[in-house]
Formats: sequence, C-alpha cells, structure tokens
Amino acid sequence: MRTEQSKTIYLKDYQAPDYLIDETHLTFELFEDHTLVHAQLVMRRNPALSADLPALTLDGQQLELLELKLDDRELTAADYTLTDSHLTLQPTQASFVIDSSVRIHPESNTALEGLYKSSGMFCTQCEAEGFRKITYYLDRPDVMSKFTTTLSAEQHSYPVLLSNGNPIASGSEEGGRHWATWEDPFMKPAYLFALVAGDLWCVEDKFTTLSSRDVTLRIYVEPENIDKVQHAMDSLKKSMKWDEEVYGREYDLDIFMIVAVNDFNMGAMENKGLNIFNSSCVLARAETATDAAHQRVEAVVAHEYFHNWSGNRVTCRDWFQLSLKEGFTVFRDAEFSADMNSRTVKRIEDVAYLRTHQFAEDAGPMAHPVRPDAYMEISNFYTLTIYEKGSEVLRMIHTLLGNEAFRKGSDLYFERHDGQAVTCDDFVKAMEDASGIDLTQFKRWYTQAGTPRLAVSETFDAVAKTYTLNFTQSCPATPGQSDKLPFVIPVELGLLDARGNDLPLRLQGEAAASGTSRVLSVTEAQQSFTFVDIAEQPLPSLLRGFSAPVKLSFPYDRDQLMFLMQHDSDGFNRWEAGQQLSVQVLQELIGQHQRGEQLVLDQRLVTALRTLLQDESLDQAMVAEMLSLPGEAYLTEISEVADVDAIHNAREFARQQLAEALFEPLWQRYQANRELSRNTAYVAEAEHFARRSLQNIALSYLMLTGKPQVLAATLEQYEACDNMTERLTALAVLVGSKFEVERGKALEAFAEHFKDNALVMDQWFSVQAASTLPDGLARVRVLMEHPAFTLKNPNKVRALIGAFAGQNLVNFHAADGSGYRFLADQVIVLNALNPQIASRLLAPLTRWRKYGSERQALMKAELERILASGELSADVYEVVSKSLA
Ligand code: SER
Ligand code: ZN
Repeated sequence: MRTEQSKTIYLKDYQAPDYLIDETHLTFELFEDHTLVHAQLVMRRNPALSADLPALTLDGQQLELLELKLDDRELTAADYTLTDSHLTLQPTQASFVIDSSVRIHPESNTALEGLYKSSGMFCTQCEAEGFRKITYYLDRPDVMSKFTTTLSAEQHSYPVLLSNGNPIASGSEEGGRHWATWEDPFMKPAYLFALVAGDLWCVEDKFTTLSSRDVTLRIYVEPENIDKVQHAMDSLKKSMKWDEEVYGREYDLDIFMIVAVNDFNMGAMENKGLNIFNSSCVLARAETATDAAHQRVEAVVAHEYFHNWSGNRVTCRDWFQLSLKEGFTVFRDAEFSADMNSRTVKRIEDVAYLRTHQFAEDAGPMAHPVRPDAYMEISNFYTLTIYEKGSEVLRMIHTLLGNEAFRKGSDLYFERHDGQAVTCDDFVKAMEDASGIDLTQFKRWYTQAGTPRLAVSETFDAVAKTYTLNFTQSCPATPGQSDKLPFVIPVELGLLDARGNDLPLRLQGEAAASGTSRVLSVTEAQQSFTFVDIAEQPLPSLLRGFSAPVKLSFPYDRDQLMFLMQHDSDGFNRWEAGQQLSVQVLQELIGQHQRGEQLVLDQRLVTALRTLLQDESLDQAMVAEMLSLPGEAYLTEISEVADVDAIHNAREFARQQLAEALFEPLWQRYQANRELSRNTAYVAEAEHFARRSLQNIALSYLMLTGKPQVLAATLEQYEACDNMTERLTALAVLVGSKFEVERGKALEAFAEHFKDNALVMDQWFSVQAASTLPDGLARVRVLMEHPAFTLKNPNKVRALIGAFAGQNLVNFHAADGSGYRFLADQVIVLNALNPQIASRLLAPLTRWRKYGSERQALMKAELERILASGELSADVYEVVSKSLA
C-alpha cells in the first residue's frame, strides 16, 4: 500500500548502481500455504564508481526475513535496517556474498505481481518491480546477473518445474516431492526472471536457426487446452524465421518455452527463454477463438519472441526507457503482422486504435512523453503512449532513414549494446551513426508529450505552374509542459490529377522529378513546400500510410474526399478519406441532434459506400474497414465537448439509414460470403479473415432493418457455422436486435455450451456488456453474479466491467451518474485485490474534462470518493490524484 512508493521518481535523479550482482542462486521450496526462497547473491562494488563502500540497500516488499548472512556470517537485527520496502546493510569488502531466506505467500497473492498461484499452478510476473516481492534484491534493470534456479514442489500436483535457461539437474525428494535446477547462461535483470510449477501438458516442436542450430520449442498449457496450441506454435516458428530474415536476429538458447496462465495482468511477458502468457494470447482454434483472437495470438507470440533481442539481449537502463524495448518491439511485431497478413488492413487497425485511445491519453491528465521524466508507480506507465506511440516514433525513424539504413542502424545497436542496459538516446545514436542522419531535433518525440496538430493549406499558381503546400504545426500543452518546440514530422504525400493519377513530384530547386509519392520533413512551426510543373490544380493526398502520429487538417470538401476514396493510390489514405467523409457527415448529424432538428443523412455517404460494395475487385477486408463508421470513442476524442447522447444517436441514425439504403448490395455480399464460409473449413489466413469480416459487418448492418430474412440468416449462421468468428458475430447481432426471444435463447445456449471455457465466456460477457440497449448497467450487475464471473481474474474484469465502461458509452455515461458510481465501486474493491487492474479500469473516469459540466461534476465526485476511500495503492493514488489536479 501507499507508503514510500507514492513518492515521485525522476529520470534526472538516475544514478548507476553502487553494487553489482554477478551471480544469483535461487532456491524455491513451494508449499500450499507458503513458499521459502533462499537467495545467494555474489556481489561486488560497481567498479565504475569510487573504491569506498557505501551502505547496500536491497529492495524487498511483503517478505518475511528468516535468515541473513554476509560472507557466511549470520547477521542479527543490529547489523541491518529493515523497512517495508528496503533492507540496508554495510558491506565490509568490495566483493562479498549475501545469503538470505524469506517466506512469501504466493497462495494469497491477488495482485498477480511477483510469485503467485493461478488455477492451481505457481507462476511469476516480475516486470516491472515484482521481483522485490520474491526476495531481497537490487530490483532495477541495469543490474544484470547470471541466474541459477532450483525449485522443489510436491510431485503429483506440480509435475512440471520450469525456470529460465537450460535444465541442468533434477531429482526426487522424500515425501513425494521433486526438484529441478535451471541455469540461464545469459546475464539478465531480475524483471526477466520466471518460474513455473504446475500440472501442465506441452506441445513440442523444433526450429532450426540460420546457423543450423536446433531449438526445442514447447508450449505448456493446462491439459484441457492442449488442442488449442497449434496456432501459437505456428506463429512462433514464423516469428523466429521473420526475425532472422528481416533483422538478422537468431535465437540463442537451446530451448524456448511459452506457458499459458489464466490469471495475468497484461498480455504476456518475455522472460528469458520462458515466456509467460495470458491464456487469451496463446489459445486459439476455430471453434473457440475469433479471427481477431487468432491475429492477436500471432502478434503477441511474435512480440514476446522479438523481445529476446529488443529487450533481453539489449535491455533498458531504467524504467524511464521502457519504450526503448516496447516501442521498438511493437514496431517489429506490427511489421511482422503486416508481412503475414494484409499490410494496409493492419495499418488501418493500428491507426484507428492509436487515434481513438492513445490520442485520448495524450489529451488527458496522464499524458506523458514516450520517455517520461517522472513517475510514482511504474506499472501505470505501461501505456499506449509508451507502446503504440513509441512504435510510431520508430516507424518515423524507419521512414526518415529508409529500410536499408534503418537495418544498418539496428544491426549496429544490437552489436554495440549486446548484454547491456541502455537508453533511448543510445538507440537513436546507433541510428544516427549508421545512417549519417542527424536526429537531434527528431528526439523531441521522446521528450514532448501531446499529439501535434498539423494544419495544411494550399496555393496554386496556374501561370507559374506551381503548387505550394503550407504547413503549420503546433502541440497543445500537457501536464508539466506548457510550451512545445517544433517536431520533425515526416509527411508522405502525393498529388492527384483530375483523373486520379499521381503526378510526378518535383520540388522547387530540384533538377528533376523523383517519384509520385515522397516524404517531406516538416521541421519548422511554419513551412512551405512548392512543387513545380503542376499544370492543373491537383488534389493532395497527405500523410500517406499515416506517416506521423499527428492530427492533420486540410480543408477537403466531401466531393474531394469521395474522389480520394476511389482514386488514391495509397490504400491507407483511401480508407482515411472515407473516415474523414464519415466524420464530416456524422458531425453534421450531431449538430442537428443538438439543435433538436430532424436528422438528415448526406446521401453522398450512401453513394460512396454503395460504390465500394458493388466493386467486387476490391480487397474485402478493406471494404469491411471502410464500411465501419468511426466509433463513438473516436468521435468523443475529436469533440471539443463530447455530447454522449448526440454522438450515439447520430451514429446509430447513420447506420440505420445506410442499412436501409444499401440493403440489396449488403444482402448480396452477405449471402455470397456466407455461402463460401459454409462450404469452406475454417482457415486462419488473411483472405479468409477478409471474407468473414465483410460478411460480418454486412450482417450487423442488415439486422438493423429488422427484416425476417435477416433474422433467419443470423440464426442459420449462429447454428451452422464452424467457427467462433461467425458465431460470436451472430450472437452480438442478436444481442443488439429487437428479437428478444431469439436473443435470450442464443445467449442461454451459448453459455450452456461454452460454460467450461473461460476465454469464450469472456466473449459472452463482453458482447452483453457492450450492448447499448437501455438498462445496460442493470444487465452488467446481473452478470457480475454469474458463476463464471470473478473480480479476481483480470480477463473477466476487462471483459465485463472494462467493456461496459470503455465500449458502452451511452450506458456508462448515463446522465444520473450511475455508471460512474458503479465503476468507482469496482475500483475501490479492486484497489485492495489487484492495484494494477484497478488503476487501469479507472481510466474512463479520468477523462472527465471531455464532457459537459453536469457529467464533469459527477465524474469528479467519484474520483474524489475513490481518493477518500481509505488506503489507496500507489497505482490508484497516482492516477486519481493526477486526474484531479
Ligand atoms: N514486457 C511485457 C510486454 O509488453 C509487459 O506486458 O511484452
Ligand atoms: Zn513488450
């Protein structure tokens, strides 16, 4: 709870560690009612510092110290100082050995940090600061050590005993216990330590590396899930190959293991050689996991595997550098997914997510730079800014350097820093040294928070045949940063002629045109670029591929957007033009709703979507993306003051109108695709994802018409399909429909059939939590009483409470404040159970400044109630106090 931890930690106070730990020898004796941890630390004074011997302060929390020795000398209480977070003692020589024994209680650890139990197995989560809940240690990423780990447990319940590295010995003990020793030859910080003991089965495979070494691959799961592992295994092998081909990175140990656990705060964790995953990011097969879940498994397996180099071999000096490994690794996994599936669709999904959620974070009270300067609780900084915006920063470096120089830079980075704990500056330096490009100004992306605005205007001179684009950049103030300096904004663009062809691009002063799509670097607050040889007024296609994470504005009219939708050679920008058209149309409807006028949909949106639906040559996944109107959360983000009801009503009105106007083409595409799905066994590949995505979005529109043939089609799909993607869509469509009887029956049948599959039940909870029909909160309260629900499982909390607060905006923001009160109640309970989850769950309340004064008051009152509710964890305290500041 909040004691010493609630003080702010600053990057500027960073100091190298006084002592190093060359070797770490751990022994775990796992029992049902406690665990004993013996640690032998072979330590020495940091040779980079002076020769004197300052006091040694080890981190340790919630540990019961049983024994402490310094070089075999038993220490008594007079020899050390113990607080609830530190153990301090005085070394007498430059090299020494510390032996400690502590008792801990994984069996009652509900925070899921450190060593804990999940569904009967022991497992760990040490990032960021969980290791200090296991033993006294220098729990900081710049202290790297060679680990040997022995675990012992009762053999029958825990036949599998795992830790990092290679198994070197094992045996039986008396009393039905057994033990195993693992040795990790690579130096690592404590946050990469892992241990697992449980009754697990595994699927084994092998991968032969670039240099012809055989690596054993094992994925461990609970026995009943052994049939849901193949997709993750395939994804792992693809990842290993991709990292060799694209980054020249080879795996280093003889064995690579993944273990799936049910209770996990995050998605997964890249512990050296022993990745521990939330089961939702491992288990996938057609009958139980959607296409989106299959793609998430592929992406997360890749992400964690890629960390072996970008994170483990080269790690972070301190937690302010978190994006060094996370931004880079998200960029790597995004490119991997783009190569495995549809590049444009992957980019659309990522950008839609970034603009909805990361932009909101950047505009909220917790806004922070990609490399923060201060934090109270590091767990609160595993954010969209560190991960997704961090990845965008890497993407911009890639864009500015080009593929070849970027690869040289990453090679240099890995070579120069292998085995080290380094900073974001070190990464950028390697990129500069390898490319010869100066990134000094670019580094502002690491230090300035907030989403830059880029306003663009044009001037066309028909006589001189010149076309000028004028850029003005600015960035709103964020907490602690009132003034921002100009960023380096790479803007990829093209110019379209009246027939929609890209024009050759030649800037004033250049000898010849080069290319039809190119990257301009906007580096000044105001800057103009003039293109020559432009005979007719062109239409610009700006920020192609979303080449920078900015809010770009250009005064397009709706006809121009429709033109870009059809003709832009950049697939991402075709989608983007459609989104901008939809936003304009929806904002017009929102205004009509607010003025109490009759809503009238601009028919150009109907025409644009009809054209798409009728063109069977288009990528179906793209058509599906373009049919998806911007979400309510995104419309909220771009509003000055978000009018929840107007946004919801306007969007639903537009959907209804589109469904009726486009019934015929939607119905045709739906039937054709369902027919194909009916006759094709499930395949988790891009082309099949595409077919199902168009089929499913068509069905969700069609149901809005309430026609009996659509109900019949939905029931047919629900009952006859062979996969969760079609089944869950049919269920969601029924849940949102007026067909109460069918809805009830389907929900009941689904729960009955899948009651033993926790991950599928999560979907069942989410579909209902997200339903915007009236009385949403009452339904959620009933669901919380369901036997499959528990606040102790983070996936359940996210699936029900998280989905309600994050996706069911009309119900969550009910004008009487009941949604806010409910969320605050849950945060208060979770604060004591699992601070990390509590703190994440409360994010929607922190966005109170977005709403009108009545909602603001209600939301703030709930934040204040949380603040006054008693002893708050550092996690919750930091977020609540900052959001009220
Ligand atoms: N380091 C972990 C990851 O992002 C934290 O969940 O992969
Ligand atoms: Zn990561």
